[in-house]
Amino acid sequence: MIKKTDTSRYDRAYFDHWYRDPQTKVKSSAAIRRKASLALSVAEYYLERPVRTVLDVGCGEGNWLPALRSIRPRIRYTGVDSSPYAIERFGKKRNISLGSFATLEEIGLDEEYDLIVCSDTLFYLPIGELEQGLASLAPRTGGVSFLELYTDQDSVIGDFPKDGLQSSSWHRKLLRSHGFLSVGSHCYLGPKAADRAMELEHA
Ligand SMILES: C[S@@+](CC[C@H](N)C(=O)[O-])C[C@H]1O[C@@H](n2cnc3c(N)ncnc32)[C@H](O)[C@@H]1O
Repeated sequence: MIKKTDTSRYDRAYFDHWYRDPQTKVKSSAAIRRKASLALSVAEYYLERPVRTVLDVGCGEGNWLPALRSIRPRIRYTGVDSSPYAIERFGKKRNISLGSFATLEEIGLDEEYDLIVCSDTLFYLPIGELEQGLASLAPRTGGVSFLELYTDQDSVIGDFPKDGLQSSSWHRKLLRSHGFLSVGSHCYLGPKAADRAMELEHA
């Protein structure tokens, strides 16, 4: 049985605290734009064409959408998040559905996306849900998945339990078991695209 995340903490106060309050925020639109630019470039390098479709899981308020559209204005964006607050406020406006990494098979996702984004979210998950989420995302990765994962060797600030972080070797083994191939900077080719990387491109 998969342990469930407590979704009630991801309310308006949570997003105000980490994203908006000048005293406490750790996120900025400039930082998100840099990540979006990186993920798009890596995906387009391997796909050899512009990215058309993006799935963003644990997308929160969907802040990646304006960042992605500032570079690729016609991109088709699908967000998924477990926060009822985020869906109520941004669901329609930014095409975000209520769901979790454990329910990806149940919410009518497409078979494949050019780019999958899981930014600042995977380390919140119980191990069982992380495994279940990666199993759903690997076959849907047409090009690249941007999977931001932290380990017990990383020094990171944020609102997450230090006890929950696993080692780098544990993460590498898990990602490999789902066919993800690391090409650096949180970018992974999915199993369908893994043969596009030359040997020394592997991270
Ligand atoms: C720090 S925010 C990151 C939001 C966005 N990805 C970003 O980069 O700005 C973490 C997000 O993970 C979501 N989340 C937490 N547990 C989740 C789960 N089990 N399934 C889906 N989303 C989850 C929260 O609702 C929250 O929106």
